[in-house]
Amino acid sequence: MKALILSGGHGTRLRPLTYSQQKQLIPVANKPVLFYAIEDVIEAGIKEIGIILGPNKDQVIETVNSVEWDADIEFIYQGDPLGLAHAILVAEEFLGDDSFVMYLGDNILRDGIVQHADKFRSLNPDSLILLTEVDEPQRFGVAELDEWGKVKRLVEKPKVPPSNYALAGIYFFKPVIIEACKNIKPSWRNELEITDAIQWLIDNGYRVEASIVEGWWKDTGKPEDILEANRLVLEEIHPRMDGRVENSKIMGRVVVEAGTVVRDSVIKGPCIIGKNCRIVNSYIGPYTSVGDNCVIEGTEIDDSVILDGSEIVQAGRIVESLIGRNVRIRESNSKPKGYRFVVGDNSNIVL
Ligand code: TTP
Repeated sequence: MKALILSGGHGTRLRPLTYSQQKQLIPVANKPVLFYAIEDVIEAGIKEIGIILGPNKDQVIETVNSVEWDADIEFIYQGDPLGLAHAILVAEEFLGDDSFVMYLGDNILRDGIVQHADKFRSLNPDSLILLTEVDEPQRFGVAELDEWGKVKRLVEKPKVPPSNYALAGIYFFKPVIIEACKNIKPSWRNELEITDAIQWLIDNGYRVEASIVEGWWKDTGKPEDILEANRLVLEEIHPRMDGRVENSKIMGRVVVEAGTVVRDSVIKGPCIIGKNCRIVNSYIGPYTSVGDNCVIEGTEIDDSVILDGSEIVQAGRIVESLIGRNVRIRESNSKPKGYRFVVGDNSNIVL
């Protein structure tokens, strides 16, 4: 079995971060979201991985290649994101005659995909889709199941949902899905939809089974999703102290990476602080991830994700924030007193 991991798309809902960064590279607990998907497919015994690339292809290649993976990785350029079924067609040569798992590169699953891959191998259907129970099925692609748990129908954002089972972004396919993708038409948003391709399988007598996700599942499409995924991953973090702590209090499960100095501060886990940071006279509270090379002085930060190279000095109290790379936030001492901003398009500021 092969894997096709999708790391294309524009990520408009995560602007302004996605102007300069492919969304699947945004870190959750200091690890790019994309790496969780790669680790999951490798854990399921898959040795051939194709990664679909979009607008920021070079940074995805560079980031993925910065790690030694126990698998062969091939990069496949999609160009414009014309839909999940389009991504399959672009990968036709890579996929060949093999079965494969398609994994959306911005999704995170607590328990990985091993049990679902085993189910796909043993039931041997034409497709096995992962479903997760949600509170508001109206917001998702939803599956209708028959009495034996087989998939009868898929509906996008239904007004009257046939079930509470939403499609998680992980799908197992036999090669017949390529024929399905070739037989569907673009949707109203001009995308070749994977739900239409799966519906084509059902309508043409192919067997589509479902596998229910038991642990949490998170699609990190929006800023609040990144924060939520960060909370969920940090919840299970193992403490480690590789930095230097001076006159500070460390409480709960905290990771401090090498080269980092924590001075006159309080750190309350679960949280992670990257390499070569300086945390001085500050409070870093639960569910916070601070990237590499950050400086935090005289500031309180709770429940936030701070990316590499940012400097936050005398900034009061920051909560539930997603802060990009190399951002500077500091108190102003000059007159006139007031907020001074240099913020990118589509930024979001709550004072
Ligand atoms: P989406 O989150 O639906 O789309 P997007 O990334 O363009 O985001 P936004 O709606 O905020 O603009 O895509 C789901 C996943 O699939 C995501 O990881 C991006 C990836 N993708 C591709 O690789 N190619 C595509 O053609 C599409 C539509 C998505």
